Amino acid sequence: MSVIARQFGRPSGIVGRLVGRGMARGNGSFNRWLVDEIAAQLPGGVERAVELGPGPGVGLESLLARFPTARIWGIDLSREMLSQSRGRNSGQANAGRLTLIQGGVESLQALAPIDLIMAAHVLYFWHEPAQAVAQIYRALRPGGVFALGYQLRLNMPPVAQKNFPREGHVLYDSDEAVSTLLMEAGFKSVRFSVMGPREAPEGRLALASK
Ligand SMILES: C[S@@+](CC[C@H](N)C(=O)[O-])C[C@H]1O[C@@H](n2cnc3c(N)ncnc32)[C@H](O)[C@@H]1O
Repeated sequence: MSVIARQFGRPSGIVGRLVGRGMARGNGSFNRWLVDEIAAQLPGGVERAVELGPGPGVGLESLLARFPTARIWGIDLSREMLSQSRGRNSGQANAGRLTLIQGGVESLQALAPIDLIMAAHVLYFWHEPAQAVAQIYRALRPGGVFALGYQLRLNMPPVAQKNFPREGHVLYDSDEAVSTLLMEAGFKSVRFSVMGPREAPEGRLALASK
């Protein structure tokens, strides 16, 4: 089960390919909801947007559709996930509107100033979260937005609650803990939304403005 916890953090090989397909199915509606929420709160649209950790690329697909004039980048540690993201969005990648980069938060600075950075279910894999969020903050333009999609520990499947910490992954017990992380990096305000019923949410969004 520890193998699976590792695979979610950086899918690779045949198992990673299957994990990616599972994420597209299991997280697809959450990713589409996230982008709908972001678009509703950014009526002026965006010109430069990055998704960190797009995995199989469902969030990228929604960003490309919702922000049809934006340049979009996807940055992921996993070659396998970049390949799935490319496969799902090949038309836009071939047209040059979507660029895929292998790397992590350190790749952001070369793309600055960025209007929107989205990261869905990536938070747990930042073992130094304050450093990661500081790099995100630096790469955003003034007024830019960081959209963080996540799940709290108590709403995660028991297998993740048990095995993620064993791999050094960081779980969060409250929106306040997430808010503190963001505000300490310098964000001016954080707005929260929840997908699904409060007692059994499908995921959460923290929208932080620089
Ligand atoms: C659990 S998956 C989530 C994928 C997708 N966002 C979703 O919601 O289905 C986490 C993804 O983030 C990537 N990842 C993990 N740590 C990362 C980091 N520091 N920088 C960029 N990508 C990262 C992994 O390779 C994987 O593709």
